[in-house]
Amino acid sequence: MPARKAKKKRLIEPLDIRSQASPLGQFWQPLFELPVTFPRIYFDVAMGNVIRNPNVNSTVLMRADIYQEMVNDTIHYSKTRKVDLADNWLTHNLSDTEPRLYTIPGYHVSSYVVRRNVPRNPSRDSVTNQTCALYTDLTDSDRLVVYVAHLLTPDACPFYLPLARAVALLYHVDHRGATCSVHYMLYENTPPLLARDANDRLIRVGLHLLNTCVKHSMGSQSGYTKRVSHDQVVDRIEFQDRYIALKHKYSASLMANWVEKTDPTKHIFEDLGIAAFLIQLWGSMYKSPSDFEFVDLGCGNGLLVHILVSEGYRGRGIDARKRKSWETYPKNVQECLHEQLVVPAVLKNDLPEFDAQDPYLHFVEGASENTFYVGNHSDELTLWLPLLDRPFIAIPCCSHNLSGSKHRFVTPGQAQVSEYAALVDKVAQLAEKAGWKVEQEMLRIPSTRNAAIIGRKKFGPPADIAKIVADEGGAKAWVETTRQLRHTISGH
Ligand SMILES: C[S@@+](CC[C@H](N)C(=O)[O-])C[C@H]1O[C@@H](n2cnc3c(N)ncnc32)[C@H](O)[C@@H]1O
Repeated sequence: MPARKAKKKRLIEPLDIRSQASPLGQFWQPLFELPVTFPRIYFDVAMGNVIRNPNVNSTVLMRADIYQEMVNDTIHYSKTRKVDLADNWLTHNLSDTEPRLYTIPGYHVSSYVVRRNVPRNPSRDSVTNQTCALYTDLTDSDRLVVYVAHLLTPDACPFYLPLARAVALLYHVDHRGATCSVHYMLYENTPPLLARDANDRLIRVGLHLLNTCVKHSMGSQSGYTKRVSHDQVVDRIEFQDRYIALKHKYSASLMANWVEKTDPTKHIFEDLGIAAFLIQLWGSMYKSPSDFEFVDLGCGNGLLVHILVSEGYRGRGIDARKRKSWETYPKNVQECLHEQLVVPAVLKNDLPEFDAQDPYLHFVEGASENTFYVGNHSDELTLWLPLLDRPFIAIPCCSHNLSGSKHRFVTPGQAQVSEYAALVDKVAQLAEKAGWKVEQEMLRIPSTRNAAIIGRKKFGPPADIAKIVADEGGAKAWVETTRQLRHTISGH
């Protein structure tokens, strides 16, 4: 028997209002309408958010850079309008930054934003400007958002925008109660909405815009706020532009040459995102790439090392088990990858059976001051990253304790948090104990395991690492547990 599909919670079916006259005037054609119960303030909040984050409505779009904004009759110019675009990006009419505002009888413009739409792949889809204007009516009971793209001709309309002069979302109150509706101002000589069927792109896009508007307004009424904290450590625009550039440069050849059994799309885009983040982070820490060296502990297939070394950064990757991919990288990258077991130096004295001469063992000690440790989903090593006395980034995945054994942590006083969240808390807690000023970021990468804990600066006197380890129950079985890794086939 086929598995039953989970029921998707649907909004009420919208009313097709194409045969009615649009309240916005003769140039507009109405499309769909939904009755709503939320007060207009939630429409304002939701639309304000959607205007700043167009990626909510289109997966093709990555972000909007705000050029200028008019609020309370004052125009504010944003610093993002000065952001440079890469040479290989397609653009259309970007010098046209004057707001495009339509006169709509019975309504007046209360605020507007001129934004630059930045697609995820700007070498395929053009970057365009767009005016997003918020109107109110004379009694201040209605709200209207009108989007106008700054196109020179309809042919220039990119795929991510509806092919229309303008699109409007109206929050309207009358004797029936409140409704939200969507309306288009079409180009001349194009079929009217009434003549189009349900599969027509303008009809589908209109329905999607209306549903998003209502869903987000209801979400803002119920107090839903995203818990994740992005862009705390690295600027979003700088990160995204770097990510686009790295994707453009590497993704096609990496996909073509993938030799692992694992999913290439998952690894490639995740590691390109992490590389973009690290490059921006290092830019804020060091004057030049020659001022430091990174070490990727538990580097797995070595892809992150390959990207970073190819970008001119000095570094190495160490993993308990070498991977097929290593041989596919250029010679200079291969030389940076080492099959060794990473052993924190603090364990050396506890474990007299260690053969300190065994070349398979890589004791982490005496690293140069300018070493930066990377632990990306490095599982058995994750908790050790903050204890190695050098700046680090830890991106946790599976939960292990300091002995390298699988372990489920519990965040004190918060029994409900997930195993993953408790692990992230544990890394942050150990980092703090070790004297790091702890920074956290939810990385913008295609992975649900995207929390990063970063230690760039230390405060206070040097921490007693051996005591921290002892307080955590020690790490006696470390070598026995982690030696097995050489023969373990993992999904990474
Ligand atoms: C889940 S995989 C992640 C690999 C890679 N960083 C990635 O994100 O694709 C964890 C890796 O850490 C390595 N590892 C864990 N503990 C280690 C240790 N003590 N020494 C060397 N490698 C270790 C494992 O061999 C494994 O390849």
